[in-house]
Amino acid sequence: MAELRFDGKVVVVTGAGAGLGRAYAHLFASRGAKVVVNDLGGGRHGDGSSSKAADTVVDEIKSKGGTAVADYHSVVDGDKLIKTALDNFGRIDILINNAGILRDKSFARISDQDWDLVHAVHLKGSFKTTQAAFPIMKKQGFGRIVMTASNSGLYGNFGQANYSAAKMGLIGLAKTVAIEGARNNIHCNVIVPTAASRLTEDILPPDVFQALNPEYIAPVVAYMCHDDCEENGSVIEAAAGWAGKCTIIRANGTLLRSPESDNVSIENVKQNWSKITDITNYSLLSSIQEATGALIESLDASGTKEGTNNQDSDETDVF
Ligand code: NAI
Repeated sequence: MAELRFDGKVVVVTGAGAGLGRAYAHLFASRGAKVVVNDLGGGRHGDGSSSKAADTVVDEIKSKGGTAVADYHSVVDGDKLIKTALDNFGRIDILINNAGILRDKSFARISDQDWDLVHAVHLKGSFKTTQAAFPIMKKQGFGRIVMTASNSGLYGNFGQANYSAAKMGLIGLAKTVAIEGARNNIHCNVIVPTAASRLTEDILPPDVFQALNPEYIAPVVAYMCHDDCEENGSVIEAAAGWAGKCTIIRANGTLLRSPESDNVSIENVKQNWSKITDITNYSLLSSIQEATGALIESLDASGTKEGTNNQDSDETDVF
């Protein structure tokens, strides 16, 4: 197969001074992209700042013959990061929202600051940076955006309520950006990585840590951003040289009312609980239209059709 290249493309990787972001920046640069290496250079908990992390990665890329420039802004100032791309390279084609911090505490001990800082870096930072890049991508009719979620968001994880909420929020953000960007060839997907980095060094057992090289994940992220990749609005989990798509399934459930009785009682819910929660039979749903369609089908089948759908408006859906 011909080598997949990114010549002429400008890539912004946030939090690229270490870990996964560093691996992404190196791979894109090695395949011809011009890379903005963004990193605030702070501590793992969102404290401090330094230009060293970004500078080191830029030097590494340049020493291998690649093209890169450093940016030291916080992702919360997303517009400034995108300006760095425009000022230096005149465009922005690919945005990898990767910067992250942890402020782990058991749920009862999370302070407002623990909540706000984690949400600021992960969720608001991705929002601000993506919103600054989006109109430019729209105008050029090409854009590839990656959000970074976590298994902690998908499944929950003890001590990470703030982080889980922000990470799951990123999936919602990505899915809507994917819908709104599709008509302008802007694709937005989510990576759910597990990798050895300073965020995981004291969480993962040492032998597992060794197997989780971030370089195993970088090609998955890079392919999702290539012109050839049609994927949009998907969540891809990757670790240790394995990758697979995560999706939403919904139990086929059961109708709680009948043509004879319109009433739904609490007792009726209790009686049907095993059917409501049984996922032996399920639907694979990939859009709000499919979810609404499946509901209307169930109502049709029972003869109690009353579903309403806001299909007249191309701007919004009411759910
Ligand atoms: P890392 O700590 O090695 O790298 C994150 C980088 O983001 C750091 O260099 C840091 O300075 C930078 N950063 C932090 N706040 C910033 C801000 N406000 N603006 C700009 N840069 C900032 O961590 P790692 O593991 O490489 O994580 C990358 C992403 O992957 C994060 O979003 C993390 O939540 C996510 N993730 C990582 C997992 C793993 O197993 N390593 C698991 C699930 C998700």
